[in-house]
Amino acid sequence: MSTPRVLVTGGAGFIGSHVVDRLVRVGAPVVVVDDFSNSGRQWISDHERAGAITVYELDVLDTSSLADRMAEHRVDHVIHLAASVDMRIGLENNWIDVEQSVIGTRSVLEAMRQAEVRRITFSSSSTVYGEPEHRPTAEHHGPMLPISVYGAAKLGAEGLISAYNHLYGIQAAIFRFGNVVGGRMNHGVIYDFLHRLAARPDRLEVLGDGRQRKNYFLVEDCARALVDLAPPEHEVLVANLGTSDTVAVSRIAEIVLEETGVDADIVYGTEARGWPGDVPVVEFDLARAHALGWHASVPSVDAVREAARRLIAEKTVA
Ligand SMILES: NC(=O)c1ccc[n+]([C@@H]2O[C@H](COP(=O)([O-])OP(=O)(O)OC[C@H]3O[C@@H](n4cnc5c(N)ncnc54)[C@H](O)[C@@H]3O)[C@@H](O)[C@H]2O)c1
Repeated sequence: MSTPRVLVTGGAGFIGSHVVDRLVRVGAPVVVVDDFSNSGRQWISDHERAGAITVYELDVLDTSSLADRMAEHRVDHVIHLAASVDMRIGLENNWIDVEQSVIGTRSVLEAMRQAEVRRITFSSSSTVYGEPEHRPTAEHHGPMLPISVYGAAKLGAEGLISAYNHLYGIQAAIFRFGNVVGGRMNHGVIYDFLHRLAARPDRLEVLGDGRQRKNYFLVEDCARALVDLAPPEHEVLVANLGTSDTVAVSRIAEIVLEETGVDADIVYGTEARGWPGDVPVVEFDLARAHALGWHASVPSVDAVREAARRLIAEKTVA
């Protein structure tokens, strides 16, 4: 069997560019679609120059152009990552999340149907669970009651993927990520802390009381799952991806100070949540991903430290 031809939406972004690295490494023909709304070409330009990938500046909402690109490159598999990723932007204008995640995913699925592409892998999130009654939370947890429009829109996208699987036979893998961290990060708590310290080195303000606890895993581990784990024929695979442990935001603040060598006062807020819609504790049951042979390579605390080191070395923030 020939290597599947893969189209990555959002392929220039943080996770997307690492997915592209892995696909190029395994020799897959790769097409990247990105509107560059939250990225540039810098992380994928070497592959582009080497002729290993084809890049289109395209909004995933443009269904017919997307279908044309899929047909032209005879794409077998779509890894769908394009979306607005900052939950706090979505707080001010939540249409962004609905448009990007719900309408955008429907557009990708529709383009796939038109171009007869049979497999999708989707980047969902722990936010679909809302504040679950049971922790660690497994994939069958219900009812799913997200507390942010970002999470609600991800859940809507999951629903559309399930419907397209049933109606049109599109094979699907849905991965619910914890916090993905690493080099090239352009958002998230570690990036945010480095950004704040660069602006004000004597004082690190933390959103919330610092007791929020979540799991963090390295972007290369995430890319490995997205590229390597295939769903069973005609089924929808849903799996959490992350680590079984958690690390508190207060510890992340300390790690960032240790790694930057900056001596700042850490100033905590009073709220349990960092912002409205933030889920203070995210703990995953990872039995399903582990049964598929996937494990995060390091615990959360090591992933956080490694990501801070890489961002500092890149000098894009601090
Ligand atoms: N980073 C995390 O911790 C995390 C956690 C859970 C889920 N996710 C999901 O993973 C996916 C990738 O996230 P990321 O962290 O790499 O963010 P990112 O912003 O770096 O990547 C998203 C990419 O999509 C592009 N994009 C946005 N809207 C587009 C559109 N309409 N058409 C084409 N391209 C578009 C952006 O320019 C960017 O390159 C997102 O769907 C996000 O919701 C990320």
